[in-house]
Amino acid sequence: MVTKRDIRDEVSGKLESMSDEEWRGWSKEIAKHLISSSLWKRAEVLALTISRGKEVDTYFLIETAWKQGKKVVVPRTNFKNREMAFYELTSFDQLEDGPYNLKEPNLRRCSAIDPKKIELVIVPGLAFDKNGSRLGFGGGFYDRFLPQTKAQRIALAFPCQIVPLVPTEPHDCLIDHIINPDGFLS
Ligand SMILES: Nc1ncnc2c1ncn2[C@@H]1O[C@H](COP(=O)(O)OP(=O)(O)OP(=O)(O)O)[C@@H](O)[C@H]1O
Ligand SMILES: [Mg+2]
Repeated sequence: MVTKRDIRDEVSGKLESMSDEEWRGWSKEIAKHLISSSLWKRAEVLALTISRGKEVDTYFLIETAWKQGKKVVVPRTNFKNREMAFYELTSFDQLEDGPYNLKEPNLRRCSAIDPKKIELVIVPGLAFDKNGSRLGFGGGFYDRFLPQTKAQRIALAFPCQIVPLVPTEPHDCLIDHIINPDGFLS
């Protein structure tokens, strides 16, 4: 049986060997599909993460959302209770360096938002399957957070992040839609 650990190792390796050109080109394609979708167009409050390394680029998405007058909220992670809170971001200057190479909203410069106000969540993750199962980074943060909102859940994935089957446990939350460089998978 394939375990979460197997998929983590396999997909992390493939992501590391992705070239910068692939990262840039595929991020652009994925952004194009997301931004032209009705889900994006009708959402006024969007939750995104600040992308790191070989994650699909979210800086361009955040800038686009600002230009379109949308509200962007980003998480701050509490590693003690493994919970996240979301704060409104209006400028990248409001970010500070957090643990694990994370960029997080500065508490003195950003205000918290009620998760119920979020309409669309761009959910990060390592791997996904076509049924919407998700493998995250192993903390269970999104599995704890997603049940607090009714927002649509979209994941953005490079080709190597789509796997035949993500093994799941009862606490794992499903994703509504996955976008890869060719468009919506589901
Ligand atoms: N809703 C929850 N309540 C309590 N514990 C949870 C919950 N969701 C996940 N956990 C615990 O968190 C740990 C990590 O979960 P999992 O392997 O699903 O992480 P993940 O989905 O990869 O992480 P993330 O969502 O942070 O990207 C597991 O030990 C799991 O039992
Ligand atoms: Mg999980």
